[in-house]
Amino acid sequence: MLKSRLLAAASALTLCALAFAHDNTKPDDAIEYRQGLMTVIGWNFGPLGAMVKGKHPFDAADFAKHSGRIANLSDQLLEGFTKGSDKGKTEAKSEIWANWDDFQSKAKDLDTQAKLLAEVAKANDEARDKEQFKKVAEACKACHDKYKKD
Ligand code: HEC
Repeated sequence: MLKSRLLAAASALTLCALAFAHDNTKPDDAIEYRQGLMTVIGWNFGPLGAMVKGKHPFDAADFAKHSGRIANLSDQLLEGFTKGSDKGKTEAKSEIWANWDDFQSKAKDLDTQAKLLAEVAKANDEARDKEQFKKVAEACKACHDKYKKD
């Protein structure tokens, strides 16, 4: 009993620490976080693209796995773009913070399309998978074209 109460207290503390860290995140940490997140998203995006382009044989289970992972990550994107993190080892353009509403809506668009892809991918319908994958790819591109340095 005591143990579970201690555990609850400990996790409450951890949550506080996380919330605290959030408001005080160092720019370099935010940059590392978002680049890491993008790397993981890119890692899962690759095999999807290969299947869509026919470079890899289509595998419905694999397609659903990678789509699901992207859908689980895509709503965390904005957290990595803290104020002041436009400087450092980053390819993020400072326009992001000047056009925050637009940037936010592009991030939201990715999240919407990625979650749709994960839903569609459960149905094992190759044509629909491919069609929805293109919407996700467009959401990546729309943001990179405007807000990511080459
Ligand atoms: C809302 C804007 C936005 C969306 C949507 C977006 N990206 Fe990015 N992406 C960025 C920005 C900005 C950077 C540069 C980050 C930095 O260097 O700090 C980036 C960087 C990357 C990187 C390089 C990471 C590194 O190691 O530096 C990869 C890979 C990537 N994105 C893949 C993707 C893929 C795949 C998608 C779509 C599934 C996507 N991104 C959607 C804005 C976006």
